[in-house]
Amino acid sequence: MPGTASSTLAPPVPLVGDDLEVECVDGTRRRAIGLDAAASTAALPAVATSVGDFLPWYSSVHRGAGQKSQVATAAYEAAREAALGFAGRAGVGDDVAILCRNTTEAINLLSHRLRLEPGETVVTTVAEHHANLLPWARACRRQYVDVAADGTFGVDDVRAAFDELPGRPRLLAVTAASNVTGWMPPLDELIALAHDRGVPVLVDGAQLAAHRALPAGADFVAWSGHKMYAPYGAGVLVGPSSAFREGDPMLAGGGAVDLVTLDEVIWTAPPESEEAGSPNLLGAVALAAAINELGRIGWGPISAHDHDLASRLRDGLAAIAGVRLLGPATGSDTLPLATFSVAGVPHALVAARLAAEWGIAVRHGCFCAHPYLERLLGLGAAEVEVLRRAVRAGDRRAIPGAVRASAGINTRAEDVDALLGAVEVIASGADPPVDYVQDPSTGDFSPLERPAGWPELPSAGSACSRS
Ligand SMILES: Cc1ncc(COP(=O)(O)O)c(C=O)c1O
Repeated sequence: MPGTASSTLAPPVPLVGDDLEVECVDGTRRRAIGLDAAASTAALPAVATSVGDFLPWYSSVHRGAGQKSQVATAAYEAAREAALGFAGRAGVGDDVAILCRNTTEAINLLSHRLRLEPGETVVTTVAEHHANLLPWARACRRQYVDVAADGTFGVDDVRAAFDELPGRPRLLAVTAASNVTGWMPPLDELIALAHDRGVPVLVDGAQLAAHRALPAGADFVAWSGHKMYAPYGAGVLVGPSSAFREGDPMLAGGGAVDLVTLDEVIWTAPPESEEAGSPNLLGAVALAAAINELGRIGWGPISAHDHDLASRLRDGLAAIAGVRLLGPATGSDTLPLATFSVAGVPHALVAARLAAEWGIAVRHGCFCAHPYLERLLGLGAAEVEVLRRAVRAGDRRAIPGAVRASAGINTRAEDVDALLGAVEVIASGADPPVDYVQDPSTGDFSPLERPAGWPELPSAGSACSRS
């Protein structure tokens, strides 16, 4: 597993598409600088090669008698084993790896499988991505652990949340790393605390998976291939087989059953019971290849690279006049990610200018973590109410948010420096070289004259709903 293998590979490791050039408003083409790894990553070359090599063998999984189908089934099951190993769970207890679409689906699947009663409680935190808030919000009561102004909480805060409850909660659902601040809660201590009280733990590993080992002590772990250089649509939920034996699976259909009559169904055993329908075989092959490649590189070199990038990025941004870094202070241990605002410039305009003038891709908005952003930005109830009214009326021009730059295994120091230089220009207050227009229905800005080659986009909902 990562961290143990010796390797000749060392980050920065190029990804597929790193050589692409994009069009800028000055009519030039610049190397595309991708600083949005926290959203989705491009493929590792080894992943693309594995998928390409496997394609001739693509056929049905679990159902065919032909050799190709048997090869496909073996590859799919090998990916499952690789996922278990990646979560530190190979050969541990009766754990299973359920292959699904992504972290969101994995957590929804678990919330369905826990068969929560409306009166039961899940303890979770306001630092979560919506994927780890909304499935619980519609299933049961929530006890939220709040954050300090720097977006962090401690073990005592989680203990206090447990203590406030009249009984034992069904689950602690907590992120391994925030997609907004890159902050990593003290997971091992949180898991120990919950286990002391007989409470199982779900860890949302979406952000951590590409950067550090997933916590082997958690009962359930969810993560996504597309954030760890396997962008072919596979995600994973790992957990004890026993959790998936009672009741009905979330999806009903072929492949999940042992016997069906018109009046009865006998579900098969997990993990197959949770994977009705034809599985995403190429996604599984890609995921296994990414796991293998990250293992060859090792967590040691990945962490060292992350650490250098995180401090370059965060220290650099914090040093620019007019830039405010959200989250823990510089020098804290975070993922290589920084979320920031620029005084006097809307976040959507900062992101648009970075793309159109410098070819730098970042994310802006609320990052699918509205309650967390509200706290990090220090918004009061009255401000939120005004915004709520505006959004309901279809006007997203003043939607609050920030800009996020996030690095991956392919990011080079010069990419970060390019961002810092560009942000410095924007923060200086210098007029943009071209005019930008804002779409009130999304809040997004774009150059009045879009660079050649940029597609016209349909209006696709709000920046926040997309982010
Ligand atoms: C912390 C965290 N959890 C969950 C998710 C949801 O992941 P997915 O979109 O792959 O379901 C994300 C995606 O950004 C995330 O950052």
